[in-house]
Amino acid sequence: MGMLDGKVAIVTGAGRGIGRGIARQMAAEGAAVVVNDLGTALSGEGVDVSVAQQVVDEIRAEGGSAVANTDSVADYRAAEAMVQQAIDAFGRLDIVVNCAGILRDRMIFNMTPEEWQAVIDVHLKGTFNLCKWASVRFREQKSGRLINMTSNSAFGAPGQPNYAAAKAGIIGLTLSCANGLARYNVTANAVVPSGATRMIDSIPSAREAVAHTGKLPSELAAGTEKDPDNVAPLVTYLASDAAQHISGHLFGSFGYNVVLFSQPKIIKTLRADHRWTVEELAQHIPQAFGSDFQEVVNDPRVSAAIEAIPEGKWVEIGPGLRFYGTKIEPHMEFVW
Ligand SMILES: NC(=O)c1ccc[n+]([C@@H]2O[C@H](COP(=O)([O-])OP(=O)(O)OC[C@H]3O[C@@H](n4cnc5c(N)ncnc54)[C@H](O)[C@@H]3O)[C@@H](O)[C@H]2O)c1
Repeated sequence: MGMLDGKVAIVTGAGRGIGRGIARQMAAEGAAVVVNDLGTALSGEGVDVSVAQQVVDEIRAEGGSAVANTDSVADYRAAEAMVQQAIDAFGRLDIVVNCAGILRDRMIFNMTPEEWQAVIDVHLKGTFNLCKWASVRFREQKSGRLINMTSNSAFGAPGQPNYAAAKAGIIGLTLSCANGLARYNVTANAVVPSGATRMIDSIPSAREAVAHTGKLPSELAAGTEKDPDNVAPLVTYLASDAAQHISGHLFGSFGYNVVLFSQPKIIKTLRADHRWTVEELAQHIPQAFGSDFQEVVNDPRVSAAIEAIPEGKWVEIGPGLRFYGTKIEPHMEFVW
């Protein structure tokens, strides 16, 4: 028995990296999978139709069901056809995972409108396209799962204004889908993934790794905490019936850590009985909010916080399994 027996999934960008691992795990758990990948370079240029087909071949060799789709997620009508392809090939559609992605990194003062648009088109519009067409179907059948890859770059990566904007947009899009589709029994969640893929090979620290080891991070990742396949179990779980009650949340997958982010919350309030004057704000904001300006609240390296958790603070919850909560529930020790 697989966790996704009888389900049909579309996984975009599934020819490589994190999407490939998700497509393969979903197939291993019993889902029939539409493996979408345009087979582009990291910049979004070029096309290679063999990339999606290779993963289809891998899934079939392992006894699973899959078909390839080599269209761009940025194409609105092609996304409609992709949903139709799932229905034609496998009779239904239950799950959409949006993984397709490109990078065109540049500081804001150097970024061209073309670099901005290309990244927005693939990530934000591409995720919209699939959510839109899948939700037409999900609304009719009163079930479905949307799982969208966002990024810690959404919290302010300095050299990626296009990518940060697209990934922050994907969080808003996901939360809107969660609220808009709740009455149709459809869930929508976003995941901040990690894994040493070619995307990570492109960042400056990867060049240091090459200098030390002679290999790219992606070439050393298999079977380690940096393996992009580590993201697949969380996404597969969110796609399963076991996660029916989970919607509108932001998760993280960092190595072997699975993370739940807090929802944005108001943490401090100043109230007046009149419209504030600028002078009043200049006097009271530093006093009331000042301590919060000390820390960098929008640090994109969110996962660094996990490394800082003191060893003694983890709670054993099973063989090889540990938990750390900044918010400790009083009943927690009875749950495990
Ligand atoms: N690797 C990480 O650590 C990391 C961190 C944060 C977020 N992410 C996100 O996770 C997702 C997967 O990233 P990855 O690291 O596996 O990247 P990857 O480059 O290994 O894989 C992305 C795939 O998307 C495909 N693709 C690109 N444009 C497409 C289009 N228009 N239509 C269809 N397919 C297209 C590419 O051909 C490629 O195979 C992306 O959304 C990325 O932004 C990755």
